[in-house]
Amino acid sequence: MSEVHLRRRSDGALELRVNGVFVMDDLETSSERLLARHVIDLGSRDVLVGGLGLGFTLRELLGSPDIDRVRVAELHPEIVQWMRDGTLPGADLLADPRAHVVVGDVRDVVASQPLASLDAICLDVDNGPGFLVHQDNAAVYRSTFVETCAARLRAGGHLAIWSMADSVELRAVLDASFERVTVTAVPVDLQGRDEHYWVLTGSGPLGGRVARVRAPA
Ligand SMILES: C[S@@+](CC[C@H](N)C(=O)[O-])C[C@H]1O[C@@H](n2cnc3c(N)ncnc32)[C@H](O)[C@@H]1O
Repeated sequence: MSEVHLRRRSDGALELRVNGVFVMDDLETSSERLLARHVIDLGSRDVLVGGLGLGFTLRELLGSPDIDRVRVAELHPEIVQWMRDGTLPGADLLADPRAHVVVGDVRDVVASQPLASLDAICLDVDNGPGFLVHQDNAAVYRSTFVETCAARLRAGGHLAIWSMADSVELRAVLDASFERVTVTAVPVDLQGRDEHYWVLTGSGPLGGRVARVRAPA
């Protein structure tokens, strides 16, 4: 059973922790917003987001008039409830008729979507492979789930994954299921330190059979 905590720090930032482990705050959110901006700029209209968090990815998506529908999968019901009752900012997001929040594991929520039904999937449920808050989320970055995502995307669709660090292994997993893989470094200011977060994107799902027999480039 996970314990989810929200607190206002002495520097004024709102901070989310799960089982005592830092998940995110609202000070540096450029990479969460870029995750959304990236798929908007690629022409997506119907998007599934893994991880509601403090709602920055969702807000960026809903801020675009080009977005028709956003499904959000959030594991922890407390976070959705806090956003609904005003404990967390974002009640306006949940009231947007284009937004549909489902409480559940993103792996189950993606698997329940019809095949070839989404333009993009944005995954920001954990810190990326190698820096997990929830050990179960290791599966999110492995080929079985990435193939499941690819199969739910329309031709030319995109799977964009937030990560604390670039990952050769994750690039390879994406490369096996998509025509193109792009890696974007997002400069972030972490309390005075210049660092980067990363968005790894697979575009153009190959389809299971093609993905397995594709010749090396
Ligand atoms: C880093 S936060 C997401 C930040 C979000 N992009 C934003 O803009 O605020 C990660 C979120 O994913 C949720 N989460 C973790 N594992 C999950 C899973 N397997 N399925 C769905 N949600 C998950 C966490 O509870 C948390 O709300």
